[in-house]
Amino acid sequence: MTTTDLPDLSDIDLTDASVWEQAAPHHWLDRLRTESPVHWHEESDGPGFWTITRHEHVRRVSTSPLEFSNWVGGPTRLEPESMDQVRMIIIGMDPPEHRAFRNIVAKAFTPKMIGQLEESLRAETARVVGALRDRNSCDFVTDVAALIPMWSISELMGVPESDRFRLYELSHALIDDQDPEVAPTAETSMNASVEIFGYANEMAARERANPTGSLTSMLLEAEVDGQKLTDMEYTLFFMFLIVAGNETTRTASSHGLHTLLQHPDAWARLADDPSLMPGAVEEILRWEPPIHHFRRTATADTTIGDQAIAEGDKVLMWYAGSNRDPAVFDDPHTFRIDRSPNPQQSFGIGEHFCLGANLARLSLRLLFTELLGTIENVELEAPPRRLHSNLINGIKEMQIRYDVR
Ligand code: HEM
Repeated sequence: MTTTDLPDLSDIDLTDASVWEQAAPHHWLDRLRTESPVHWHEESDGPGFWTITRHEHVRRVSTSPLEFSNWVGGPTRLEPESMDQVRMIIIGMDPPEHRAFRNIVAKAFTPKMIGQLEESLRAETARVVGALRDRNSCDFVTDVAALIPMWSISELMGVPESDRFRLYELSHALIDDQDPEVAPTAETSMNASVEIFGYANEMAARERANPTGSLTSMLLEAEVDGQKLTDMEYTLFFMFLIVAGNETTRTASSHGLHTLLQHPDAWARLADDPSLMPGAVEEILRWEPPIHHFRRTATADTTIGDQAIAEGDKVLMWYAGSNRDPAVFDDPHTFRIDRSPNPQQSFGIGEHFCLGANLARLSLRLLFTELLGTIENVELEAPPRRLHSNLINGIKEMQIRYDVR
């Protein structure tokens, strides 16, 4: 579709998951960024929202957590019925409460702590990717991309091996509930959350009996204002970490391979020069942000750029738009693994900046290094099957064939 196919900006519907299922609608996002960077977007199931697509505006909103709240309306477009529970999760909190809860786990995600995981993560990545040698085709999503983040977050949380795959399936059903194939009914994701709740309680009992120093025991031992977390606060924190750890890195891994297959020159350069890997990972994240958008709600009358925003208005930050802002990125629609600087916003920015960013970056570097050394002549057997969602930029299945090096 060209921009001339769109007579009116009001025809743009960013709430339509079937649009995102095809690919991020860059022709729309570009038009909005240029013609209406802070754009009022109607919605059939709510009061409407502001949509922002400029890098500077995403920075402005994300770095002003008291003006643009996660607590008031949650981080997603529609307020869930369980808003009280969302407010007990760090992504649904504002400062100063947010900081206190974030600090409980922040020390587990520092570069030093993640560095300590590097050797075992490298070994696990080599094991998963090494299994590709036994055949010449696979579903990259379930056979590779899903397994490594599932391993990392389970190691951190102390989840035993026998339970990991089930927890991964549950987190998928919970967060990817816009897709009828993943969550055919509302009960599917409800049942998933009930099962994760039950599991979190079993983990608590085990960790209390035998503390392992895992993230789970950190949650159980933590105090905020001299008080231990309530059972509900602990359970929701546990669930959020499992979901956050599994979903996004799997998505970035799948999109990373897909993008490199579409840019064989980049694959060849990376194979020749491993020093390009950190930059390639940043560019993969810029190119296909694993999360399409997050939401904030204005706590008072304010402005974004020249646009007046009223107290209570919702604002949706579209990372796929801000990551291709020509004011910040030269030639933004070109995939360049040596792009520098690359201030991509796929991990968010400011108060809620992704806690798992160090882990995700390491994981992606190890994965692509291992893949380049293990397989070649990689081709898609069919177009990737993408998730029906305007929140998560997921890939459900990506069948590939390849030669073993
Ligand atoms: C490529 C992988 C990942 C991407 C793209 C990603 C993206 C994001 C984004 C966009 C946010 C919200 C930022 C904001 O609102 O400004 C976030 C928050 C968060 N992420 Fe990630 N994430 C990834 C991997 C991970 C992993 C592996 C973990 C590990 C558990 C994790 C844990 C979290 C947590 C705990 C938060 C909430 C932080 C807060 O509210 O203070 N993420 N992530």
